[in-house]
Amino acid sequence: MSDATAKKEERRKFQAIRGTRDLLPPETELWNRAEQTAHEVFSTFGYGEIRLPIFEDTALFARAVGGETDIVSKEMYTFQNPTGLAAMVRENEMLGTLTEMSPESELISLRPEATASVCRAYIEHNMQQLPQPVKLYYMGPMFRRERPQKGRYRQFYQIGAEILGGTDAPGIDAEVIEMLMTFFDKVGLQGATLYINSIGHNADNCRRGYVAQLKAALEKVKDKLGSDSQRRIDTNPLRVLDSKLESEQAIIATLPHIADHLCDGCKTHYAEVKRQLEVRGVLYQENWRLVRGLDYYMRSTFEITAPGLGSQNAVCGGGRYDGLVELLGGPPTKGIGFAIGEDRLILSLQESGKGQVQQGRDIYIAWMGEKAYAAAIRAAKDLRKAGFSVELPPLEQKFGKALGQADKLGAKYALILGDNEVSEAVWTLKTLSTGEQAKFPEPDLLEFLRQQKKVSS
Ligand code: HAM
Repeated sequence: MSDATAKKEERRKFQAIRGTRDLLPPETELWNRAEQTAHEVFSTFGYGEIRLPIFEDTALFARAVGGETDIVSKEMYTFQNPTGLAAMVRENEMLGTLTEMSPESELISLRPEATASVCRAYIEHNMQQLPQPVKLYYMGPMFRRERPQKGRYRQFYQIGAEILGGTDAPGIDAEVIEMLMTFFDKVGLQGATLYINSIGHNADNCRRGYVAQLKAALEKVKDKLGSDSQRRIDTNPLRVLDSKLESEQAIIATLPHIADHLCDGCKTHYAEVKRQLEVRGVLYQENWRLVRGLDYYMRSTFEITAPGLGSQNAVCGGGRYDGLVELLGGPPTKGIGFAIGEDRLILSLQESGKGQVQQGRDIYIAWMGEKAYAAAIRAAKDLRKAGFSVELPPLEQKFGKALGQADKLGAKYALILGDNEVSEAVWTLKTLSTGEQAKFPEPDLLEFLRQQKKVSS
């Protein structure tokens, strides 16, 4: 490295990697609020939280999500994890004992989604022996190497829920969706639209038969399609229906609809899901093109869009995936679930003005003098214990400067403690929005603030 390059490297400023970002206060307050609402709503429906690893065996995602899907074929962060002999070789090398053993490694990936992990955990912990169904929810970061844009990141966050085992009664599908809509309502998301569809099951008299017809229809119009859709005719013809390309829309409108090819079982199931949604007062729109980009789905699929998000407007996706647990080596098990894109949820809340968070401290303590500092420390301790957010400056400031600082921090009150206040044990509280000042004996002050808090909450 030349001197100049070394200097440049030394001065280099580090930045978050493309597609990742820092979430900062006060916005994180809103994230916490959304997560807290999810904990509350999901637990009223009997769901328990599962915490999953951030990385898993690559083969788990390939098998569950599907090797031909965009997620697995292009978007996963995959790396080699030295294991077994390879790890031993490394340790030995570190110890200075070089050996001739051949290195082994396994491929691991950062999770692009969590349904596969939940199913893996269901099998690994023999959850089929628990009372069925098992209801689990999770929240945390997922990773996909997509082209970053508004609402699309390479590290993004999901809040999801899965219900495994028991029956595939349509009431389960409807209740999962009802829970989701209850959450959106409670968190304050406005203008959300629920789209539903049924993509049948994998049999000749159902989806397989439909896909064969779709493929034949697509072959006939192949020349008019873009290169992505042309490729998908062979790899995954259903995904052509997902295309957003303007030039393909008129052609797609002429393709056969899956609803006309569902077997009797799937048709009845779908009709009953819709009826059960109506019973629950959940509004929906049908969208025959809703096929979802992951291979494990069957029967019910659904997506929710929200305003203010531009082209990445799906704030939640989900569906039924009976058979996935079995595909991963477990017993035949019914399953359905969803994942909310938390980044997009927050964006939509902010765009609609529902994203206000309480900024600033409750109380700024302006103190002058050694004795006042001791009293201020004690006051801060008591106030924090009572749940107030308190700023206690570590250095003495003139009162004028302290009040200016309190304003900048958006504090509601300034508690003024000088020699007089301490010797008289009567403290001064200034309401910063009105400039009003009032004096309180020490015990009354805490009571006054408590009352104010009750009124404002
Ligand atoms: P998904 O449709 O791939 O489904 O993702 C669910 C949601 O995650 C999307 O609707 C979107 O809001 C958000 N999302 C996906 N990719 C990104 C990204 N790059 N940046 C920001 N947000 C994103 C699943 O992941 C399934 N596991 C859902 C599921 C659970 N199905 C059954 N159970």
